[in-house]
This record gives sequence, structure tokens and C-alpha cells, in this order.
Amino acid sequence: MDDDRETVIEAENVVRHFGAVKAIDGVSIAVRRGEVFGLLGPNGAGKTTLVRMLATLLQPTSGRCSIGGIDVTKDPMAVRALIGLAGQNAAVDDMLTGRENLEIVGRLYQLSRAEARRRAAELLERLSLTDAADRQVKTYSGGMRRRIDLGASLVGQPEILILDEPTTGLDPRTRIELWDFIQQLVGGGTTVLLTTQYLEEADELADRLAVLDHGKVIAEGTPDELKEQVGGDVLMAAPANPADLDAVVEVLGRLDGTDPWVDHRRQQASVAVTDRIGALLQAGQIFEQRRVPLRDLAVSRPSLDQVFLTLTGHAATEASDDEDGDGAGRRSGRRSRR
Ligand SMILES: Nc1ncnc2c1ncn2[C@@H]1O[C@H](COP(=O)(O)OP(=O)(O)O)[C@@H](O)[C@H]1O
Ligand SMILES: [Mg+2]
Repeated sequence: MDDDRETVIEAENVVRHFGAVKAIDGVSIAVRRGEVFGLLGPNGAGKTTLVRMLATLLQPTSGRCSIGGIDVTKDPMAVRALIGLAGQNAAVDDMLTGRENLEIVGRLYQLSRAEARRRAAELLERLSLTDAADRQVKTYSGGMRRRIDLGASLVGQPEILILDEPTTGLDPRTRIELWDFIQQLVGGGTTVLLTTQYLEEADELADRLAVLDHGKVIAEGTPDELKEQVGGDVLMAAPANPADLDAVVEVLGRLDGTDPWVDHRRQQASVAVTDRIGALLQAGQIFEQRRVPLRDLAVSRPSLDQVFLTLTGHAATEASDDEDGDGAGRRSGRRSRR
């Protein structure tokens, strides 16, 4: 990673309160040109609040945000000319077709009618939306909806793209297609700031990431650096009977001196270990002696999920209520404002 590249997105000690809620509580991040920076955190962590401040849509209570060296509160128009934003409240109109939406955005960017039409057609093609181009957006699936939102943010050919949870609620295949598309944009030199609650997504796309929890950055680094914070490998054990979960935790706690963490949703517990084979054998022996039947016992490199659990004591996606596989965008009203 080339550290000499200029910082193009910066938050310096930014605070944003909503009444008594400290949505962002002293956050500093710096994203370098050409980089994909991930802002990872569960629902309510403050991701959208931070992104909206960077995108000029919300004023910080204190601190400073800048894009391309321009202070966002001093010259919001200049900042808007540099960025594309695909957010959770996107600018797409449900009653219009995909093509009409993109053409209107093109006109807002002062493109001529012909140029706006050409640009819309090109983006529809790149986003595999040509077949649906002349249907009203309200008929789109969740995945198509995300793509047209993304298309709208790309009309102005921004150097800096801000994506707020671009794949939340999408099925795995659509998610991977969007990842590919984002990677193509990055290959073309676009700087991307992306928020996500999916550790996999941060791992796949981000060069560096900041982990956000309750309005604060609790860790920052490359995905590998964050994984190293867990320390070595991870031994995971899952009991065959849910009632044995406490017994499993107790056994793992005896192995290496570190505290195990429990994933109640998956009914399993994990612990960081330094001697992977020794720990595996020892654990196997104890479970056998105590006659605790297991569904699974394995050692692996830590996942970002485990990193998150270790850092925060809770799972990143535990609080998520938006996994209907269909995208939140189709619920009426949600995207109608601008
Ligand atoms: N307009 C608002 N008014 C009051 N509280 C808000 C507003 N926007 C966000 N919040 C609160 O700020 C916190 C962070 O929210 P948000 O930035 O939307 O988190 P995320 O995008 O990570 O889910 C939450 O507690 C949320 O309820
Ligand atoms: Mg959000």
C-alpha cells in the first residue's frame, strides 16, 4: 500500500448529536486516492450519519469533514461535484423508468439531452439493466433497485464514490455481482468509501477499514491487521445439544488462557489459540472425557466476524433486521424523499 497518496476523504474528530443521542462521537478517518475504505459496523453504529456529513447532507455538531481537500460545510457545491453517493435514501423516483431516472440525473449534471441519453444507455448496459430500462423502478427487484441507485450515483462520473450499505438485504449472487462491479470501478481509479455490516464484504472489497460501534472507531487497519488482533488461530466448538453450550465454553476457557466468545445465534463458541493442533487435540480429549457430543470442532484463521466479536463483545450482524433477501428499497415511502 502506497502511503504517499493524497487524502481525498477526511473526517477529523467529527461529532454529531441528535438530541441526547451521540450518533457520531469523535470520529477521524482518512481515505487515500484510489483506495477502497470500508466503514464496518452494526445497525445504529453511526455509518449513515457519518456518510451524510461527508456528502454535505448533514452538518456536524463539531469537527471537520473534507472531500478533495475542500471543507464540506464551506463549499458543499464544490464537494457535490466531486462525489457520487448511493445511499439508503437514494434519489431514484419509483414512478419513473430506470432510463428516465438516469437521464434526469444527467440533465441535473448539465449534460445535453443527447449526452444524458447516451450516458444513461451506457450505464444501463454496464449494470445489466438494459432489458428493464423502460420499466418503472417500482417494478424492480431489490438487486435491480440497488443497481439503478448505483447508476444514478455514477452519472456524473465521480472520482469519489460513497456507498452506504450497497448490498444489505441482497441475495448472495446479486451481492457478488455488485462486488464485481464495484471492483471494476476501483480498477478505473475511483476512490470508494463504503459502509457495510457484512464482514465478508469488507474483507472482499476494502483495502483498509474502520470498525464503528456506538459512534466511535474501535479499530482500524487492513483486514489482515484486524484479524491479527484476534491473535493467532481460532478454535471453534459447537455442541450437538444446545444445552451443552455452557459446558463447551468452559472447556474452551481452559485451553489457552484467553476468554472464549459465544455466538448464541450459531450455537457455538470460539477461542484464540497459539498452538492450533495442540489445542484441537486437547479439546477433543476433554470433550470425549466429559461426554459432551459435538456438532463441530475446527481450527481456522480468524474471520472478520470473530474480530468484531472480540472487539465489541457482540456480533456485527446480530441486530440486523434487514435480511429479507429482497432489499429494503421496495418498501414504499422509504426512498420517496429527497
Ligand atoms: N435524524 C435522526 N434523528 C435522531 N436520531 C438519529 C437520526 N439519524 C440517526 N439517528 C440515530 O443515530 C444513531 C446512528 O444511526 P445511523 O447513522 O443511521 O447508524 P447506521 O447507519 O450505522 O445504522 C442511531 O442511534 C440512530 O437512531
Ligand atoms: Mg445506515
